[in-house]
Amino acid sequence: MIGRAIRALAQQHVLSPAIDDALLSDCRVLGNRYSLIDQLPKGGVVGEVGVDKGEFADHILRTARPSGLHLFDIDFSRTNRAVTDHPAVIMHRGLSADSLDVLPADMFDWIYVDGDHSYEGVCRDCRAAKAKVKPGGYLVFNDFALIDVYFGRYGVHRAVSEFLAVERWPIRFFAFNTHGLYDIAIQKPLLTDS
Ligand SMILES: C[S@@+](CC[C@H](N)C(=O)[O-])C[C@H]1O[C@@H](n2cnc3c(N)ncnc32)[C@H](O)[C@@H]1O
Repeated sequence: MIGRAIRALAQQHVLSPAIDDALLSDCRVLGNRYSLIDQLPKGGVVGEVGVDKGEFADHILRTARPSGLHLFDIDFSRTNRAVTDHPAVIMHRGLSADSLDVLPADMFDWIYVDGDHSYEGVCRDCRAAKAKVKPGGYLVFNDFALIDVYFGRYGVHRAVSEFLAVERWPIRFFAFNTHGLYDIAIQKPLLTDS
């Protein structure tokens, strides 16, 4: 019975496209997402999509020291006041893709994407964030995985793999995680038509 249910779920699963080796030729593999953040530009304009209590936003503020940290969430009621009251923080309440859409192009040095984890949600964030990162800037996706053992299926792996297959941004950093929920940082090419 359970085996049949698992097989039925697996049959509904749409495979992610393969990652082209050429996109990985300059990729650095790291032990965790904190080491990955250490590699990104300091003092820049940064975004975090999905903030929750603000623990990772606090880490970004302390270690990357952004000149501006734009936080995107549908609800900031759980977010630590030390983060929301920080002078570098600008809060955008609402659906992240809608909030990103109205911002100027090429304004971010990097955006950390950790909001809606559904396939459709990540596709929307990819589309919106793509134009807002400056050439040479980074999009970082948390939970680059198919499944979370606690929360179920995630669409991050498929959405990001499809983005890579079409946009061909090189993968610069990949970070491991003890739950098998990896981080992947991709870099917007310096010369791009988008
Ligand atoms: C996993 S938590 C973020 C955790 C945080 N990045 C960290 O590492 O500490 C996901 C957050 O995304 C927010 N969220 C989910 N869907 C969203 C959407 N479409 N737009 C904006 N925020 C969203 C939720 O409210 C939640 O606070």
